[in-house]
Amino acid sequence: IQQQPFAGVRLLITAGPTHEALDPVRFIGNRSSGKMGYALAQVLTELGAQVILVSGPTALPAPPLARLVRVESAAEMHAAVMERVGECDIFIAAAAVADYRPELQASRKLKKHSGNIDLRLVPNPDILAEVAARNPAPFTLGFAAETEALEANARAKLNNKGLDMIAANLVGGAEGGFDRDDNALLLLWGDGQRELPLMPKHQAAREIARALMQRYVTST
Ligand code: PMT
Repeated sequence: IQQQPFAGVRLLITAGPTHEALDPVRFIGNRSSGKMGYALAQVLTELGAQVILVSGPTALPAPPLARLVRVESAAEMHAAVMERVGECDIFIAAAAVADYRPELQASRKLKKHSGNIDLRLVPNPDILAEVAARNPAPFTLGFAAETEALEANARAKLNNKGLDMIAANLVGGAEGGFDRDDNALLLLWGDGQRELPLMPKHQAAREIARALMQRYVTST
């Protein structure tokens, strides 16, 4: 068995949440801890890959062998990815990127008022879809976080975003997903699928890496 099957392969991985600022001290965020993306970075560097990890705010230590680029917002993550994507062979989008950001960002702390506050949100760029639409595009592995209809919703994302592969997880329930140490995943690609039962995220990352290598080799 080859010890370093990813030797010479350049990967760009996104991980963690994004924080969309309302003012200098408040943001809209989500429950992603970064554990899934960091586990992938760790496992893939161990398998010989050169990994750049673009990470939203997390409490995790930098994976020793990966190059870590820290960002806060979806706009910053977008810029960090676009700057580096031309030099990668595989793009993995494990980050939970905010689909929307506040239209206005106050430069001073918002004051408390007696009435309601209306918040207008505007869409963020879809980093993964933009990477997949490039020509040439790297091999793309997306994630799908779903609360229902896992396979159908994930297949729709695979097709609509033009991805090579997608790892779908049910979130908001007992199966894993956001901010857990374990995850259960359904891997989907053009004509196939593989189910990964609930297991530690590091083990899931090894299984994803194995499936990824098979699909990547077939695509090149
Ligand atoms: O970080 P953990 O606590 O370990 O949790 C892991 C996880 C649940 C966050 C992870 O396994 C996961 O599912 N990540 C994707 C979460 C998500 O935002 O899914 P989505 O279905 O909304 O997005 C689909 C894909 O498009 C994802 O690959 C996402 O990174 C990407 N995307 C989405 C929006 C956007 N503006 N840009 C993107 O690149």
